[in-house]
Amino acid sequence: MNAYLIEARRTAIGRAHPDKGLYREVRADVLLAELMRRMLAGMKAGEELTAAIDDVYVGCVGQHLEQGKNIARLALLLAGLPETLPGTTVNRLCASSLQAFNFAASTIAAGHAGLLLAGGVEHMTHVPMQAATDYHQGLLDRYPFPFNNMGLTAEKVARDYAVSRHDQDAFAVESHRRALAAREAGHFAREILPIDTPAGPARDDQSPRPGTSLEALAELKTIFAADGSVTAGNSSPLNDGASLTLLASEDACKRFDLKPRARVVDFAVVGLDPCTMGMGPVPAIRALLRKTGLGLDRIDRFELNEAFASQALACIRELGLDPDKVNPWGGAIALGHPLGCTGTRLITTLLNGLEESGGRFGIASLCIGHGQGMATLIERL
Ligand SMILES: CC(C)(COP(=O)(O)OP(=O)(O)OC[C@H]1O[C@@H](n2cnc3c(N)ncnc32)[C@H](O)[C@@H]1OP(=O)(O)O)[C@@H](O)C(=O)NCCC(=O)NCCS
Repeated sequence: MNAYLIEARRTAIGRAHPDKGLYREVRADVLLAELMRRMLAGMKAGEELTAAIDDVYVGCVGQHLEQGKNIARLALLLAGLPETLPGTTVNRLCASSLQAFNFAASTIAAGHAGLLLAGGVEHMTHVPMQAATDYHQGLLDRYPFPFNNMGLTAEKVARDYAVSRHDQDAFAVESHRRALAAREAGHFAREILPIDTPAGPARDDQSPRPGTSLEALAELKTIFAADGSVTAGNSSPLNDGASLTLLASEDACKRFDLKPRARVVDFAVVGLDPCTMGMGPVPAIRALLRKTGLGLDRIDRFELNEAFASQALACIRELGLDPDKVNPWGGAIALGHPLGCTGTRLITTLLNGLEESGGRFGIASLCIGHGQGMATLIERL
């Protein structure tokens, strides 16, 4: 059986900043609830369709404070969805919402459900990345540096794969250029549902910086290692945002007259050395292509999460990807990386991009903290 992608939406991505952040006065649960409410309202999902949704899977990394105690269920109640609709929250770190999406596709493909919402949320202003984590000393001792410091893993990948500071900065400049061009062309207006904030509806991503130049980036100091190459300019920033998809079985499509926009073909998840976690997409994409029997040349578009320019570039080079096919509308360095939100943000942009360009196969892939990688293949219909 197949699982079909019916709808995919996201919020504008805000900067995680106590004074400047778009969502500094909007809670994570409200952000997700408003996205749920608006997406279903926009689809004109009547009571019958909404009541037929079997479950809600949400990815979120920092599952405490306002993101704690199963934000999937709390947000759907806030959204006014039926109390009979359950919800669960999953954690695969940066790939949490792609994991939620893959779980949903598998559940539908196995015939256990007909309609599922899958998405993710992260509010890094209110729930900072390292809040309330107590790593076992044995794990911290086992690796040459604290592998939970993602910036140090980016430095290691830059060294191991000889990715220069210049190349990282040039990659970041291009990410901003592409993101701003895509916004200008109206591409993101098709995927962003504006959420109300005290300053008005949030329509645009806050992190793309017009005027990002090689010269300006070259001025920035390295953050994680004095003799390193990773800076605030060639890293993904800290962000707030939510994304959401609706998946359906063939029967549900027929019953509710839903038009499938893509088929979820397959996915792969792998583990690797936590200190080079940024290389996760390489074995993940290779495994996915092996499983599906597709060659790289059959893939029309990649949405590859840019946790850091060093790892994104090293992955592109190792896999031999055509840079024009990777993140044509910019990536996380410009658009932002609200951890739990990003997986289905990538799926949303991938679907939108395949539809806009007439492409058929697309892969969304992320590196994942603690040394993992994930990749998901969809086929536009
Ligand atoms: C790298 C990091 C520590 C930087 O944090 P920060 O200092 O708060 O970064 P900011 O985005 O606020 O940028 C700091 C400054 O750098 C400069 N800067 C950043 N991007 C720039 C750009 N594109 N052009 C010019 N200047 C830029 C600006 O001066 C900016 O200050 P401003 O916002 O007041 O103008 C943080 O973004 C980080 O930890 N990123 C990685 C997150 C992560 O690990 N995610 C998981 C991945 S697996």
